[in-house]
Amino acid sequence: MSDRVAVVVGAGGDIGGACAHRLAHDHNVVLCVDRDEARAESAAASLLARGHRAEALTADAADEAFADTVRAGALAFGRTASMVHAVAHEEHAAAAGMSRRSVVQSLIVGPVAAFCLFRAFVSGDALAGGASLVAIGSLHASVPFPGCVGYNAAHGALAQIVRTLANEWAPRRVRVNAVVPGWIRTAGEDGLYGADHLDRVSPLLPLGRFGTADEVAAAVGYVCSQDAHYVTGSFMTVDGGLAASLARLPGGAA
Ligand SMILES: NC(=O)c1ccc[n+]([C@@H]2O[C@H](COP(=O)([O-])OP(=O)(O)OC[C@H]3O[C@@H](n4cnc5c(N)ncnc54)[C@H](O)[C@@H]3O)[C@@H](O)[C@H]2O)c1
Repeated sequence: MSDRVAVVVGAGGDIGGACAHRLAHDHNVVLCVDRDEARAESAAASLLARGHRAEALTADAADEAFADTVRAGALAFGRTASMVHAVAHEEHAAAAGMSRRSVVQSLIVGPVAAFCLFRAFVSGDALAGGASLVAIGSLHASVPFPGCVGYNAAHGALAQIVRTLANEWAPRRVRVNAVVPGWIRTAGEDGLYGADHLDRVSPLLPLGRFGTADEVAAAVGYVCSQDAHYVTGSFMTVDGGLAASLARLPGGAA
């Protein structure tokens, strides 16, 4: 049994996978959770291949039993020191045509699942002392993205979950933070926008390129490290200056 368990939800994705690799260096075991069994297995296998200890768990954040399933899976190894929620439901459609089902799915997979997961570990005595709970947020929590109302709303709510829990759980010495990526070149983004389009956009970004999943994971690694023991309720932006570049007034000076 160990008090250095890490749990990554969405470990089969680019950002979640990078977080799992980053946390594997200073945790004894990483529980790689994904709703896609093959992705969960492959995330765990890639850690095992590098000599780390890892276990795959297939579970869907949209399910009511999700939080209890993940807590039971993690407790088999010991108490959790670090946990990352890195999943979202992102459908692109005009708001007038967006279904209720899609908006509800975004809210359930994002803020509701993160809340239930974090609560299950706190109330179920499954966290190590000084544990770090991290949500992967989005700039769209405050800067709405046209054609993505459910995703925007979910990230806005997720940000408030982070702030509220950080406040309520500080006396328990449980830290709750968000790491907020800008535009990260992942397989999912290539699928949504097409590689050619992203190749054209890349030099137009403030730093002349997209961010990488490893750069997001480095911030997660910091937030979960001893160096960040006084960091809670924070939003660490890893966006290459994207948010700072957004204030362009229509017809205004360049
Ligand atoms: N890629 C970006 O540019 C970007 C920018 C800002 C924020 N984010 C956020 O980062 C997080 C991860 O994004 P990504 O680009 O790595 O995504 P991704 O699509 O590469 O990976 C997501 C992973 O989560 C899994 N997943 C999806 N729904 C799930 C569910 N209901 N239950 C369990 N697992 C589920 C998928 O199978 C996949 O393996 C999301 O919260 C997203 O909003 C991404």
